[in-house]
Amino acid sequence: MESLRIYTETPYRLRGQVTISGAKNAVLPALAASLLTAEPLQITNVPLVKDVETMLTLLQELGAQYELKKKTVNIQVKKITSPQAPYKLVRAMRASILVLGPLVARKGKAIVALPGGCAIGTRPVDLHLNGLQKLGAHITIEHGYIVAEARRLQGAEIEFEKKTVTGTENLVMAACLAKGETILKNCALEPEVTSLCELLVRMGAKIDGVGEETIRIKGVDELNGTRFRIIPDRIEAGTFMVASALTTGDLILNGVEPKHLEAIIDKLTISGAKIEKAGHHSLRVIGSEEIKAQDIVTAPYPGFPTDMQAQFMVLMTQARGTSIITETIFDRRFAHANELIRLGANIEIQGDKAIIKGPTPLSGAEVVATDLRASACLVLAGLIATGQTTINDIEHLDRGYEKIEEKLKALGVKIERIKNNNHNNNGAKHG
Ligand code: UD1
Repeated sequence: MESLRIYTETPYRLRGQVTISGAKNAVLPALAASLLTAEPLQITNVPLVKDVETMLTLLQELGAQYELKKKTVNIQVKKITSPQAPYKLVRAMRASILVLGPLVARKGKAIVALPGGCAIGTRPVDLHLNGLQKLGAHITIEHGYIVAEARRLQGAEIEFEKKTVTGTENLVMAACLAKGETILKNCALEPEVTSLCELLVRMGAKIDGVGEETIRIKGVDELNGTRFRIIPDRIEAGTFMVASALTTGDLILNGVEPKHLEAIIDKLTISGAKIEKAGHHSLRVIGSEEIKAQDIVTAPYPGFPTDMQAQFMVLMTQARGTSIITETIFDRRFAHANELIRLGANIEIQGDKAIIKGPTPLSGAEVVATDLRASACLVLAGLIATGQTTINDIEHLDRGYEKIEEKLKALGVKIERIKNNNHNNNGAKHG
């Protein structure tokens, strides 16, 4: 177990430049797509985060050979040697479900552990399974595993009841090798879905409607290898943008894709921050002395991302007035609110709403990270909480943020990683 400790003697005013890494949620499906071809794929701008390691370990178990050098992965699955995604890996990373579609499509069989619930609520995979069934897969659940089989998937028309990011990705990948045409309706529009489709087209897939709600795929017999660059991580970018807004900072973010950040830019602008283009792929975020309260409702892209909700909650603790966040995507995604309250925030949870009254000064304490974005929210809180903030269980943070402490150190933050075998004992000391 590791912790991060942030020391805040006088309030930080973050200044400088930060380079944003490749998107975790784009690289995971791109790696899973390697299962669809016997030829090599080269993926660049790979973020060096734990989830990438987990996905590579999983793909290796399924037959992949890979090499990760700097930020480039060369990966090849000449033959799928096993169709089984074990529970220990799926539990560590729900996005392991992304191997389901490709395995059935190329190998004719997938045995993938059911992910189960997680810290941010119930997260079923029924839409993935219904879709694969419509493509002709025979699916059973045995001993906690999804067993999906098909001699060859057959194109079909499928309308998602609800927008699902990894569900859309799984079915697009499966449909690429199915016989005939597949029409997917009500697809998720997230840039990561579009990026996957662009990769698949480069691999020889016949896809129409990339980036739209209706995607048409004409199945082909095989796909080829290619080289592909991962898009910038819009959530990491958003997290640093909030860091600047929160600390009356002046940060330049390099390596971003501004058009993926519109919902975040809109909300930060309303909060009082000034956001300017600082180059083709650079944005400058200048925080305001006076942060304004506002309401936020999470929604599928291009709406406000649920993955930025926790970070905005910290910002709202410093806004004058009452802000209400409504979380519409996940049913239990407010665990971070209790930790923020421990630091001094005034937040009340009413069902799917968090009511935040501000501004409230925060004071450092020991807190625990319950999921990936909650961890990011606590790091942000640590930047404004006076004294020492210790964030325990930061393995969640390492799943999705590359070298966050080094990036913050370069901006002048006093932050250190503490390795401890038993943080509870340590907690008692610092409690
Ligand atoms: C992806 C992202 C995650 C982000 C989420 C929502 C990846 C690896 N993860 O997760 O960071 O928070 O999108 O933007 O890209 N649902 C069902 N049945 C299903 C599938 C989903 O009911 O079969 C529901 C979910 O419970 C949730 C909603 O649909 O309420 C959206 O979830 P979904 O888009 O599938 O999230 P993920 O793809 O798991």
